[in-house]
Amino acid sequence: QSFFKPIQNGAPPSTTKRHTKISVVGVGNVGMAIAQTILTQNLADELALVDAKPDMLRGEMLDLQHAAAFLPRTKISASADYSVTVGSDLCIVTAGARQKPGESRLNLLQRNVALLSDIIPPLAKHSPDSILLIVSNPVDLLTYVSWKLSGFPSNRVIGSGTILDSSRFRFLIADHLNVNAQDVQAYIVGEHGDTSVALWSTISIGGVPVLSFLEKQQIAYEKQTLENIHKEVIDSAYEVINLKGYTSWAIGYSVANLARSLLRDQRKIHPVSVFAKGFYGIDGGDVFLSLPAHLGRGGVLGVTNIHLTDEEVEKLRKSAETILEVQNQLGF
Ligand code: NAD
Ligand code: LAC
Repeated sequence: QSFFKPIQNGAPPSTTKRHTKISVVGVGNVGMAIAQTILTQNLADELALVDAKPDMLRGEMLDLQHAAAFLPRTKISASADYSVTVGSDLCIVTAGARQKPGESRLNLLQRNVALLSDIIPPLAKHSPDSILLIVSNPVDLLTYVSWKLSGFPSNRVIGSGTILDSSRFRFLIADHLNVNAQDVQAYIVGEHGDTSVALWSTISIGGVPVLSFLEKQQIAYEKQTLENIHKEVIDSAYEVINLKGYTSWAIGYSVANLARSLLRDQRKIHPVSVFAKGFYGIDGGDVFLSLPAHLGRGGVLGVTNIHLTDEEVEKLRKSAETILEVQNQLGF
């Protein structure tokens, strides 16, 4: 018995509209910031949540459902059982331990690798054609482990990587120059974290390359300012964690932005963790780290071939070596 009576002589409803489903594993600070940004930005028809703590999970689901009157229509479900994720287009993994104040991301490795062995196989089984987007830290290493555990092709396994570092970088440059952060193009690549590499030559504002502009004006001191800004980016997460215990809002917006590019086939370029072997002289092993990647419905469509200085290439290789040194001890 339906609430509505069909009108006379109508055709059955069209089934051609593509149904989009996103699953988020881990409903802590990060998972919920992502979930709520996805809802407010109308990025999915269905949102499935998974967590190991069933009461908190149900509480979070109900709390989001109770906002339905103010949101675009999205079916929200939640369960500790991965069958809830079946048929997802995008699976986002945020479960796991986070840093204590002063602790490095790499310190979380053993604890979070162990969790992935419970998470990735059932996710991959229920959504074999999905794109996996890893957010838990250390994100580059966990993206590699997820690639191994899922058996997915490398173009469908992505880590949020340095999209967050780049967004912090763009904010700080914009703040320094009093312009809109959306007009600042600037990439940080490499490891998400302490060995990240700022690509100075990519910084442009409203299409004007900043470095060559400064060089022409002989504003040398500004170069030091940029170096300081990169250091501030590296220190940012530590500062926020010291102050509020975790980071959440900026990663929430970063991941929602990636979800839009992927599921809506936006073909935008984002600095995210991808299978990096073969690019920019990175040849020491199968490693995931951030490069400017072209993203669309198929996942990673390619890596942008930008000109890097010798110094940038060297730093990027060092960043890859740092990740590989740890990765080689993992036994994956
Ligand atoms: P949190 O403690 O608030 O939440 C973690 C959640 O994971 C909890 O709800 C917990 O119950 C759940 N969980 C633990 N084991 C699980 C399992 N086996 N299956 C399902 N769920 C499980 O932590 P948070 O602040 O949300 O951070 C989560 C992760 O995201 C951390 O690793 C953190 O370092 C990382 N992070 C990454 C970025 C990035 O830029 N890549 C940014 C911020 C945080
Ligand atoms: C970040 C997390 C902690 O906010 O990786 O950078």
